[in-house]
Amino acid sequence: MKKFYIETYGCQMNVSDSEVVASILKNAEFIHTEKVEDADVILVNTCSIRENAEQRVHGRLNIFKQLKKKSPHIIVGVLGCMAERLKEDLLENEKVVDLVVGPDSYRLLPELLENANTGQKAVNVYLSQEETYADISPVRYDSNGVSAFVSIMRGCQNMCSYCIVPYVRGVERSRNYETIIKEINELITNGYKEVTLIGQNVDSYNYSNEFGKITSFSELLELSAKSFPQIRIRFSTNHPKDLSDDVLEVMSKYQNICKSIHLPVQSGSTNTLTRMNRGYSRDWYLDRINAIKRIVPGCAISTDIMVGFSGETEEDHKETLSLLEVICYDFAFMFKYSERPGTYASKNMKDDVPEEIKVRRLNDVIELQRKLSKESKQIDIGKKYEVLVEGFSKKSKDEMVGRNSQNKVIVFPTKQHKPGDLALIEVVRCTSGTLIGKLI
Ligand code: 5AD
Ligand code: SF4
Repeated sequence: MKKFYIETYGCQMNVSDSEVVASILKNAEFIHTEKVEDADVILVNTCSIRENAEQRVHGRLNIFKQLKKKSPHIIVGVLGCMAERLKEDLLENEKVVDLVVGPDSYRLLPELLENANTGQKAVNVYLSQEETYADISPVRYDSNGVSAFVSIMRGCQNMCSYCIVPYVRGVERSRNYETIIKEINELITNGYKEVTLIGQNVDSYNYSNEFGKITSFSELLELSAKSFPQIRIRFSTNHPKDLSDDVLEVMSKYQNICKSIHLPVQSGSTNTLTRMNRGYSRDWYLDRINAIKRIVPGCAISTDIMVGFSGETEEDHKETLSLLEVICYDFAFMFKYSERPGTYASKNMKDDVPEEIKVRRLNDVIELQRKLSKESKQIDIGKKYEVLVEGFSKKSKDEMVGRNSQNKVIVFPTKQHKPGDLALIEVVRCTSGTLIGKLI
């Protein structure tokens, strides 16, 4: 039996897709290996969101080239968003690559691999209007056995002017909710205690069955929480223009839905948001934040920020900093704008913020957010939380690590817990990234 190794870059959707790929290959009699040196097939599931994400993959392909020199029988496949974006160019420019397979063509992998064995290089980047891999049970080959992603939809319809995702992942499709519930059920049978429902924009989940009955995201969320009271439910990512009070009300109604929302704002300036085609203003966003605070008190809020987008002035940048101060996010991912070929912005808007200004603005945002994240942790000192234990801490076998409902990482000494247990802890202090607790 042939062994495959798979490396994953990018977002949660890609992690989930790699689990679908592992399932398809296992059904075709391949065995998964964690050691690249043992592999007959090396797959890289790639991300195109920023140029540096692609650069990393080109670097990895160079390393695989060395391996292939030693063992010429190895097949190297590029999967995912970069495969979709670069298509045949990948075969042309990266001689080590045998297969280029886009996110909607994974069912063909066994066949394409067979052909590749006879020396036929192949590109399949067909984007589907229907594929959701609904019937496939993902193989969680890199899991902690406690927490799993469940993909509820694919693609994206939003057309933010900077973003490559709609071009590489195709139109938005929602997965049949019955198969979602079935997958959660299987996870519970296998001992899982937490699922995260994932999609590029979960708020626009909208599944229509054969009789035309529509299920919205708030309905799916309620159904999941009600059907499985014994596990925690999370979800990601929300879109500020679509986050409805209905979803927040379901969150507040069910104790097992975790109190944490990731709501990417990108910028605090309405001008910039308009140029980004985000579909909301600063005031609209603040109204959604107020709705979260009103309906789900104690809910943690995290975000994505992008600095240096086309046309961003110093005034716009200051508005982003002031928004961070007003909202006090618990956590943020922070990026510099990276122009992506093929997007609306790359065709119609100049990438006109000089690199050194982008770097400075990114540092401003990181520095401020570091202070705010620290404050958010300090407020937790003395509070009591239920923690779902995920494993040992990196430092010691006498400490375990887990998360509270607000998705904050908490480390605490214990001898009596194992992964999957719930522990009641009190926060006693914090470091820059972690809360430290003691058992109650
Ligand atoms: N450049 C930089 N960051 C980007 N993101 C999306 N597209 C780009 C780009 N072209 C960021 C956004 C998004 C996150 C997943 O990645 O902040 O929310
Ligand atoms: Fe990267 Fe976007 Fe593709 Fe996820 S969907 S892997 S973030 S380009």
